[in-house]
Amino acid sequence: MKKYDYSLKKYAKIARQAAAEGCVLLRNENETLPLRTGDKVAVFGRCASYYYKSGVGSGGLVNTKYVVSILDALKAYKGITIHEPLLQIYEKWIKENPIDEGNGWGTVPWSQKEMPISDEIIALAKKDSNVAVVIVGRTAGEDQDNKNEAGSYLLTDIEKDMISKVSKAFERTVVLLNVSNIIDMKWVEEYHPSALMYVWQGGQEGGNGVVDVLTGQVNPCGKLTDTIAYDITDYPSSAYFGDSKKNYYKEDIYVGYRYFESCAKEKVLYPFGFGLSYTTFDITANIKEVKEDKVSVAVMVKNTGKKPGKEVVQVYIKAPQGKLGKPLRVLVGFGKTRVLKPEESQELLIDCPKSYFASYDDAGITGHLSCLLLEEGDYDVYVGADVRSASHCGSFFQKEVILEQLQEACAPVECFERFKLQESKTKTYAMAWDRVPVRKIDIKERIKDLRTSEIAYTGDRGYRLVDVFEKKVTMEQFIAQLSEEDLRCLHRGEGMCSPKVTPGTAGAFGGVTPRLREFGIPVACCADGPSGIRMDSGAFAFSLPNGTLLGCTFNLTLIEELFQMVGIELLKNKVDTILGPGINIHRNPLNGRNFEYISEDPILTGKIAAVQLKAMHEFGVTGTMKHFCANNQEQDRCVVEAVVSERALREIYLKGYEIAVKEGHARAIMTTYGPVNGIWTAGNFDLCTVILRKEWNFDGIAMTDWWASANWEGQEDQKTNRAAMVLAQNDIYMVCQDAHEEEEIDNLKEELECGVITRSDLQRNAKNILNFILQSPAMLHELGKMNLDDIEDFNEGEDVATTPEITEYFPVDLETGRLILDCIDETIQFKDIINFGITTAGEANYSILLEITTSLSKLAQIPISVYFDNIYRGTISIQGTEGKTILVTEKIGYIKGKYHYIKLVCKEHGVTINRIEIIKEVE
Ligand code: BGC
Repeated sequence: MKKYDYSLKKYAKIARQAAAEGCVLLRNENETLPLRTGDKVAVFGRCASYYYKSGVGSGGLVNTKYVVSILDALKAYKGITIHEPLLQIYEKWIKENPIDEGNGWGTVPWSQKEMPISDEIIALAKKDSNVAVVIVGRTAGEDQDNKNEAGSYLLTDIEKDMISKVSKAFERTVVLLNVSNIIDMKWVEEYHPSALMYVWQGGQEGGNGVVDVLTGQVNPCGKLTDTIAYDITDYPSSAYFGDSKKNYYKEDIYVGYRYFESCAKEKVLYPFGFGLSYTTFDITANIKEVKEDKVSVAVMVKNTGKKPGKEVVQVYIKAPQGKLGKPLRVLVGFGKTRVLKPEESQELLIDCPKSYFASYDDAGITGHLSCLLLEEGDYDVYVGADVRSASHCGSFFQKEVILEQLQEACAPVECFERFKLQESKTKTYAMAWDRVPVRKIDIKERIKDLRTSEIAYTGDRGYRLVDVFEKKVTMEQFIAQLSEEDLRCLHRGEGMCSPKVTPGTAGAFGGVTPRLREFGIPVACCADGPSGIRMDSGAFAFSLPNGTLLGCTFNLTLIEELFQMVGIELLKNKVDTILGPGINIHRNPLNGRNFEYISEDPILTGKIAAVQLKAMHEFGVTGTMKHFCANNQEQDRCVVEAVVSERALREIYLKGYEIAVKEGHARAIMTTYGPVNGIWTAGNFDLCTVILRKEWNFDGIAMTDWWASANWEGQEDQKTNRAAMVLAQNDIYMVCQDAHEEEEIDNLKEELECGVITRSDLQRNAKNILNFILQSPAMLHELGKMNLDDIEDFNEGEDVATTPEITEYFPVDLETGRLILDCIDETIQFKDIINFGITTAGEANYSILLEITTSLSKLAQIPISVYFDNIYRGTISIQGTEGKTILVTEKIGYIKGKYHYIKLVCKEHGVTINRIEIIKEVE
């Protein structure tokens, strides 16, 4: 391995640069920004100090050592002064109006109550300051979409009043949006703040990144990865978003700017790709070369302004309408310059693969059913700094060409109407309706045809996985030794917080049973993702900027550097794959998980994901792309069906994944909770086998989302229907408590006996899992070949948490060997942390039992970490109990000595621990 400089300092520096480059400046009247030396700044909004580092849910639970808020960073900047009296007013008010954390998972409020701004406050602030910075914060996330309501997508009345009063009073007012998703922006035309910037959620270094831009140390160079329309109803998907049963994708391929730029330009407030700088650029471009598989565009970018800065150049194609109809603009390539000094120029050569702008004919209307093709005609190339202003730089004639002959897969079973762009003779465009073709193939037949042949069972021949690693035997010879039960267990991932892998992580897979371990199969580890490593044990990890922010940087080199750090961090924490990148499409601004995802555009999404994967692969670790596919709504996510044409799937919703597989050599993927066209993705053969593996040549592992279910077509979904998952080639079910005990729970044994699935299906999946493990650090650890010496340890000496001084010790009863603590009668108060002393009843093994009630839903993941003498012992991982009371236990281990400390940490709210028992185990 190369020598890598890996330190928290370096990690923080790269993340800070990313947080800065992801900021998108939308307005900067009269050079309000950058702040100038000597500026006196009045800071408004409670989110100045309460910074949203990420959204909520599994993708946000990174335990960070620190988080820099915008206020922290402003205070640390030497060239300006902050209006102290105003800060004090906020501090007092915040004390009286503490943060509302909600009830935990899925119920965290989208925003926090804001302090009303009186005329007196304005007058006070105005007296001693010349610039105002107003910060508005929002969150959303897993199990929690945004809503078109005040405090979520819309501003609250207090926020509007604050922005309105401040903007009127100050000539220079900067509004910063610390948000997970885009929000409604109509108010800008009403209150005219002189500057406005989306700063998203920048992870633990976020505040620093924002202030670097505010102060001009970094010239803003981020661009919108979504179109911001006037109203939420302007997005065609809004009519269907939020339905609890079916979500019709009637807008088809006309998602985001593909729709707005084609026929609804007037509805756009800020176009896709837009973002201002403190300088100006001149962009000229020409088509350099048109080859069989790509078009190369040469772009000259010149800094024509007065400040150094970077510019993002975007290349769009307008393809002929042909028979299929196409959006008037499709992003096909982009590039970012280095920092250009005033008058300096840089030439960028941007390669645009033709597959990025080819169309999929799902109706056979071109005479080429199920083909990816380019229709004949003139293709116009547009280049610029956003989709709207990109100007025509040339055209080329393309003869009809079929790029790929594919096959019908994942087609809808229900006929519905979809958008199709219509071109008039005078070249005006309007949306019309077209009927979506429905499925013609027989999936059952297809599964039979594509079944692999069985490897004859040999029993244990003494081969171990290392023998395959060292090429002494083939994978087939190795697999031949595994019994059906072994193969079934291999399908079962364990978690959350399995003690077999890094504490507090999401899942363990591979050698999860003693028998599989005997064959030398190591246990591999996966951890959430995507915005840093989630370890519910309380161990520290680095919190990254969210997916949307990373997309807005349009900076592949920077993201590569950042994910090299992530790669090393994974290695050091013995995590083989992080559960990310999130690469679903921002179909609608209200989707709660948009913050984990990158953009409304699949090409940008795919390229950002590919570079993350490539960077992590340098260290042998990887990422698990998720959620495959069309996870575009959180509400009712386990059941709501995406009803979507095959064309839209292939051109929009699958395209990012395809790029990540083909260009990023992805090695792991996670399916969703819900169904696409009638079949739950966890057991969807067309998706997991035909498209993913046969068409894209993916040879990694597929896993389900946690506790996902699957169905036989036409039937209800069930969590225990693992046979459907195995058949589909979704290799690993995530997650169960114990792979072996699951023999009695899932349907694998039964369906094997009836021949619905075969040993060959399991063997095929086993091969995927084992091949993955062979390439993973887990294997090197197993062989004692993992060497981390070349990497400097940034976490060394860091304690996980400190134990406050304890004066009271509760005795474990010497006779019964039990200590029972009733938490309800206030013997012990539970608030995030319970920390108490015990005196033991002699040397023995002890365990802890908890009686818990939670109000949270069954999909809520609630970790309770147990520390003994401040050393982490394990995490009790429960799901929400919806009001029911349960008992759980965790081993503490062998205890010597009399006085000890027990600490329980649970960051989720809505969890009540009624009773704690410390139990001495009887020999
Ligand atoms: C989420 C996944 C996550 C998994 C493990 C699920 O609830 O949908 O994205 O990786 O939990 O935490």
